[in-house]
Amino acid sequence: SKRTDLSGKRIIVTAGPTVEPLDPVRFISNHSSGIQGYAVADALAQHGADVRLISGPVSLSPPANVTCIHVRTAEDMKAACLEQLPADAAICVAAVSDWRPDVAYASKMKKSGDGIPPVLKLVENPDILATLSRHDQRPTLVVGFAAETDDLRKHAEQKRLRKGCDWLLANDVTKHRFGGKRNQVLFLTGDETEAWPEMDKPSLAHRLADRVAQFFQARV
Ligand code: C5P
Repeated sequence: SKRTDLSGKRIIVTAGPTVEPLDPVRFISNHSSGIQGYAVADALAQHGADVRLISGPVSLSPPANVTCIHVRTAEDMKAACLEQLPADAAICVAAVSDWRPDVAYASKMKKSGDGIPPVLKLVENPDILATLSRHDQRPTLVVGFAAETDDLRKHAEQKRLRKGCDWLLANDVTKHRFGGKRNQVLFLTGDETEAWPEMDKPSLAHRLADRVAQFFQARV
């Protein structure tokens, strides 16, 4: 169904993994499929939002009526997000690599000959969600996702406060693995915590998009 309740709202969505190069042929990344983030971008676009999807490398086609910006590294994802400011909302679904190799070598690393393997030094990547949450041009609504393995409610609330975002959707990854078709989350707004039932990822995306639309409707 075509809706227009988010028309005129610019919404940044991050999705997929980031890829952190070690040399021209090697990298550090993760198994994020991008399915949930692309579904969120699609659902928001169906509400008429002006969606800027900042995506790491995934094997999905961008949804209709979404502006997709392809990036590889966390640094590039952060820069692409900041370029989209000012925005009304940001929904960070990407699985950003927490670390990157401290140097990306210009040529392929070679075996040393003495049989001693190289030691990799990692440095921390910027936290895009926290950066957007604390930015001078902070979007009105900032939303994060969190994969947790234990004590879901407590760790999710702590993460929401630490990141400075408004809403956090936390899922127990011991139950729902990366790349799966279904998802189940706790939806935390700070005022309340709702346990959403298990559903497929597009349904979860639509439920979130409905909440985003309600949020902006309540503000006018
Ligand atoms: O990995 P973590 O549990 O910290 O991720 C929680 C949220 O923070 C997710 O919404 C993710 O997209 C975001 N994040 C980010 N930049 C990072 C790490 C996480 O935007 N470097």
